[in-house]
Amino acid sequence: MSDGSTLQGGVAARNEVYGRCLRASKAAGAIRDRLYDSRATMEVVDQMAEGSAATGSRRDRLVDLYREAADCTRCPLAETRTKVVFGSGNADADLMFVGEAPGAEEDRQGLPFVGRAGALLTELLGDVGLSREEVWICNVLKCRPPGNRDPQPLEVESCSPYLERQIQLIEPRVVATLGNFATRLLTGARAPISRVRGTPQVHTLAGRPVFLMPLFHPAAALRTPSLVETLREDMARLPDLLREPLPEGAARESATAAAIAGTAPADPDADQLGLFG
Ligand code: URA
Repeated sequence: MSDGSTLQGGVAARNEVYGRCLRASKAAGAIRDRLYDSRATMEVVDQMAEGSAATGSRRDRLVDLYREAADCTRCPLAETRTKVVFGSGNADADLMFVGEAPGAEEDRQGLPFVGRAGALLTELLGDVGLSREEVWICNVLKCRPPGNRDPQPLEVESCSPYLERQIQLIEPRVVATLGNFATRLLTGARAPISRVRGTPQVHTLAGRPVFLMPLFHPAAALRTPSLVETLREDMARLPDLLREPLPEGAARESATAAAIAGTAPADPDADQLGLFG
């Protein structure tokens, strides 16, 4: 049988053990967070390395840009994000996908299109013989807007230099815009995605001519299943488009592929909102 002092001693000892466990668990949590962060970092960086043997400096510059973005505080989204979602894939990609902004799962993992919409994008890429490791996938905004609200003009203005630098560094031949937001921003035209989807346009983005292919956003296709087939058909055009030669010194104006050939007028809605001038 124990007396009062033994009991008090026992409580103190137990509290001491609790305290030590708590401190150890906090330290372990911090280490786990750091490991998780660096794992996500390495995942992004490793993916950039895939197939990039010939262009170490391009990959290195992209990694530098990633490190800069990872600490970005240019807009208030820095206060609410969990992780910056820079983009992932191949630094030498000929094909770049640009979505709107990270969602909850992307914000948690620090990687783009890893939720349900991402699973559909991955599946449809596979259908046309491409993998995520061969392309570059990113968003206009690198941080999640709270509650997935629409991106605000200040956020787009603050973040667009990252997308511009990504396009300059990766030099894609084809930029596939996913959904209304990215399409309107990069084409500079207000036409809805339902009108322009599936027809390539030629644009100069970040000073380089590209084929811009507007596509339905995979999240929209998940909400309206009939759009999945349309998205699949539009994506099926990408392999041919990747093989097509880009016109020399592409015009700044938005123009459909037919307009490039001189057979159709340029989109009259063009250049209302242009991102990279
Ligand atoms: N929707 C987007 O626009 N981007 C993502 O990364 C995920 C969902």
